[in-house]
Amino acid sequence: MCGIVGIVGNGPVAERLVDALKRLEYRGYDSAGVATLVDGRLDRRRAEGKLVNLEKRLAAEPLAGNIGIAHTRWATHGAPTEGNAHPHFVDGVAVVHNGIIENFSEIRDELTAEGRTFTTETDTEVVAQLLAKYRREGLGRREAMHAMLRRVTGAYALAVLFEDDPSTIMAARSGPPLAIGYGKGEMFLGSDAIALAPFTSEIAYLVDGDWAVIGRDGAFVFDIDGNRVDRPRQISSASAYLIDKGNHRHFMEKEIHEQPEAISHALGHYVDFLAHRVKPVAGGIDFAAVPSLAISACGTAYLAGLVGKYWFERYARLPVEIDVASEFRYREIPLNPASAALFISQSGETADTLASLRYCKEHGLKIGAVVNARESTIARESDAVFPILAGPEIGVASTKAFTCQLAVLAALSIGAGRARGTLTEAEEKHLVRHLAEMPRVMAGVLNTIQPAIEQLSRELSKCKDVLYLGRGTSYPLAMEGALKLKEISYIHAEGYAAGELKHGPIALIDENMPVIVIAPHDRFYEKTVSNMQEVAARGGRIILITDEKGAAASKLSTMATIVLPNVDEIIAPMIYSLPIQLLAYHTAVFMGTDVDQPRNLAKSVTVE
Ligand code: M6R
Repeated sequence: MCGIVGIVGNGPVAERLVDALKRLEYRGYDSAGVATLVDGRLDRRRAEGKLVNLEKRLAAEPLAGNIGIAHTRWATHGAPTEGNAHPHFVDGVAVVHNGIIENFSEIRDELTAEGRTFTTETDTEVVAQLLAKYRREGLGRREAMHAMLRRVTGAYALAVLFEDDPSTIMAARSGPPLAIGYGKGEMFLGSDAIALAPFTSEIAYLVDGDWAVIGRDGAFVFDIDGNRVDRPRQISSASAYLIDKGNHRHFMEKEIHEQPEAISHALGHYVDFLAHRVKPVAGGIDFAAVPSLAISACGTAYLAGLVGKYWFERYARLPVEIDVASEFRYREIPLNPASAALFISQSGETADTLASLRYCKEHGLKIGAVVNARESTIARESDAVFPILAGPEIGVASTKAFTCQLAVLAALSIGAGRARGTLTEAEEKHLVRHLAEMPRVMAGVLNTIQPAIEQLSRELSKCKDVLYLGRGTSYPLAMEGALKLKEISYIHAEGYAAGELKHGPIALIDENMPVIVIAPHDRFYEKTVSNMQEVAARGGRIILITDEKGAAASKLSTMATIVLPNVDEIIAPMIYSLPIQLLAYHTAVFMGTDVDQPRNLAKSVTVE
């Protein structure tokens, strides 16, 4: 992951570089650093931990200079110490890097044998070492850059500053995204358009294999063979404003409460609320013609896809092949080129999801992207883009993006059902009417369940392990509940299909094990209740999340019962997301963890 930024400015750049880094902190926050060129000398400030530490360092020891590069790190190679923080300096070369240099170990051994000394544990240092070596051997800056790019393999977005050139930054991309920003007499470089939004909205995205020489008045872009190439400039819609938390303690809390509005915005794009019909999706995938669908994504986005699988199969009778992206691309799945594939990603930059997308593209499938970031690489490389319109999601734990992904997948599957003739018009209208209720129902739930959730969270915060169970679409939701809890509270949690309980996990049940059962009063309810009985018989503590009918029908004694309104099956996954998100959130708050930036994680995962 990591975020990188560069400015070839006509005034001091350090403060602006840090401002841009703040917009990239979602990409990692293990350490940060900035380097500038002042009077022909490279200088830098670096600090372990979050960006605020770098800001303090800069306040104590300001950094002058009109040209500079900066970095916020998510550690891959080497501990998150100040010594391993970027920018890395070697003999008049400064480098920041996002990605992984896969052959770093071989290059490091080779350069060490030549007598070079490495001062960090990072893979990135080999880039600076190689550039310094090629310069010592007499190559010019561009030649050295080109030679280095031919030597390294792996994934990289790079920015390089040479001590003997006060007017140029060099950049390269293979994998992680990189955008060049065009200003007035100044030029910018950043991992995304959001980082550059305060400076310019005129953006050109580098494509894989590109490298660039960026001066104050423009940029020259080359392909890996050194040929000049043009990358079109476009006007980015990324906002220049840093989003704030409003009256909320954390972004996550704010984003949970934004869901009624976000969902209504997302649905408005796909659904005609007056006619109660799904709008035809322009330029999209012809769901009527495809024999099957592949879905791939990571983390929470994958779990949204898993719910989507249930819907596409049920409403459109469309067989769905789904896997996490890191497995999907290596499974050698026999793919039918007449099929379509959907890739779901909030950031639109997740490396494994992008690689799966490219794999399906190579096999001739039509590609659809269900994304929040409409200017992302995944969106740009797709045949059809299905925006989820959730607005910026800052908290690392995905909340509103998840429910908006679900809303979009629900609408798409209903549209596919109509197109394939597996849903009648009356059935479509019935389902859409329920979708339209969702914002109101969500707002009602958010207004009523907080006190019960807070009380329960206090208990959960004392636990070491938690089990989540569900059937049907509540099964992916059980996994999402477990993922949410573990990522922000660090409590071990697992989500299981309720029917799988007796095939192993039941061995874990004792009086210390809370079991959260997601059981709307749907066609699975009775069977899920039987599984709850198995838990109760072994002393397990049941937390039942159900609806009014389910609560009335339940005869079991529970540790707690969270009662939601009775809703149709099509909207249940979105409605039941709210208690599981709030449970994770309040448990983490009780435990005092860093809710928005949990340890070891980053919002956008651009390495495999
Ligand atoms: O940006 P993406 O949606 O592609 O990200 C995928 C996962 O990294 C992400 O959903 C992750 O699992 C979240 N932190 C979960 O809350």
